[in-house]
Amino acid sequence: MPGILLTEILMGLSSAIDLVSPQMADHHKRVAYIAYSISSEIGLPEKDRLSILAAGLLHDCGAIHDDEKLKTFRFDFGDSMEERLEHCTKSWQILSGIEELRNPAEIIKYHHLYWNEAEELRNEGAVIPLGSYILHLADRVDVLTDRTSEVLRQRDDIVEMIRSGSGTMFMPDVVDAFLELSGREYFWFDLVSPYIEGLIGDLLRYNRVSADLNKMVSIAKVFTGIIDFRSSFTAAHSVGVAECAVQLAAKMSFSKNDQKRIKIAGLLHDLGKLSIPLDILEKQGPLTPGEFNIMRKHTFYSYRILSRIHGLDKINEWASLHHERLDGSGYPFKLSGRNLDIGSRIMAVSDVFTALTEKRPYREALSYADALGIINKMVKGKHLDGDVVKVLRLHTEEINDFKLQAQYRVIPT
Ligand SMILES: [Fe+2]
Ligand SMILES: [Fe+2]
Ligand SMILES: [Fe+2]
Repeated sequence: MPGILLTEILMGLSSAIDLVSPQMADHHKRVAYIAYSISSEIGLPEKDRLSILAAGLLHDCGAIHDDEKLKTFRFDFGDSMEERLEHCTKSWQILSGIEELRNPAEIIKYHHLYWNEAEELRNEGAVIPLGSYILHLADRVDVLTDRTSEVLRQRDDIVEMIRSGSGTMFMPDVVDAFLELSGREYFWFDLVSPYIEGLIGDLLRYNRVSADLNKMVSIAKVFTGIIDFRSSFTAAHSVGVAECAVQLAAKMSFSKNDQKRIKIAGLLHDLGKLSIPLDILEKQGPLTPGEFNIMRKHTFYSYRILSRIHGLDKINEWASLHHERLDGSGYPFKLSGRNLDIGSRIMAVSDVFTALTEKRPYREALSYADALGIINKMVKGKHLDGDVVKVLRLHTEEINDFKLQAQYRVIPT
């Protein structure tokens, strides 16, 4: 399999983070564009500009809770530096686990630090990259821009807000570069245009670094944290599903590489859950039909986001078809048995088994024997695959142990 382009992974993950709320739509891409433009204006080398661009694409990934994210949409949010830097630190912790993202992670770590607060931190030994000041200003420009009204009419007010923060909130040199940039209409038109994704794609086009399967596993692990940690009930769900799927796949003679693929698929299967509001994810009780309609979107989003990343092939199918059912009664594509290959069937079983044996807001965790009882009924009802379930039944205790160990490594409880 040819490698998967890191830049495509980056774009996919950036889109996923912005699913959290409609107000966020494309926030990360716009901030990346502004930050890159300012870096060019300053004359930074291309390598640094690309780090700043990548930082823009992922900067708020640590603001996991919906309200945490929305709070940052107020221009001067946060009463203290600590409060502002809280999600910056979390984003940094998440991303510094990926070697290729170390530089962007360092930039992100201080992206809400005011210029006049920096000295205090530097005296304590902190190294604050220039990119952090650029990202901070870029982020605030996007927050000030109202995309529902004419952009050039807002320009003077936005420029004034930023200028008045020079030397206090913002680094003077970065403000100067922004003032220069702000004089050009195209910059503002780009910012509110529907072509922002294409623009970022163009900037990244020549960056051909790719990830192999092992690298993909580690990137997927990092992102599983962002998906699952939104709710304490699902905090280790994807890790459990991935482990269960790998165990079943190994027993069903999958090659080593296909086992890695199904692991990645398991880790990312609920990527689209980032689009589901937390009050639905954590509802104490059954969902209303309206809420269930919203819930049904999550695999659709997983599919659409992952299909933008070339080379994932089966990984996307195995990840995103986990709520399809053999009799065609699942969602969102209403596929039936002949369209669901063995990997997709394994994933569906792994998801149900893992979910049933986990605590939910409206019920306790089921024992694996009770879970198997329900799963058997789902086989009879032509929802789940009988051959896969037979393997699960033969090795339930072993598979369950592997699953629990993998989950324990994420959340030791
Ligand atoms: Fe932020
Ligand atoms: Fe932001
Ligand atoms: Fe799901």
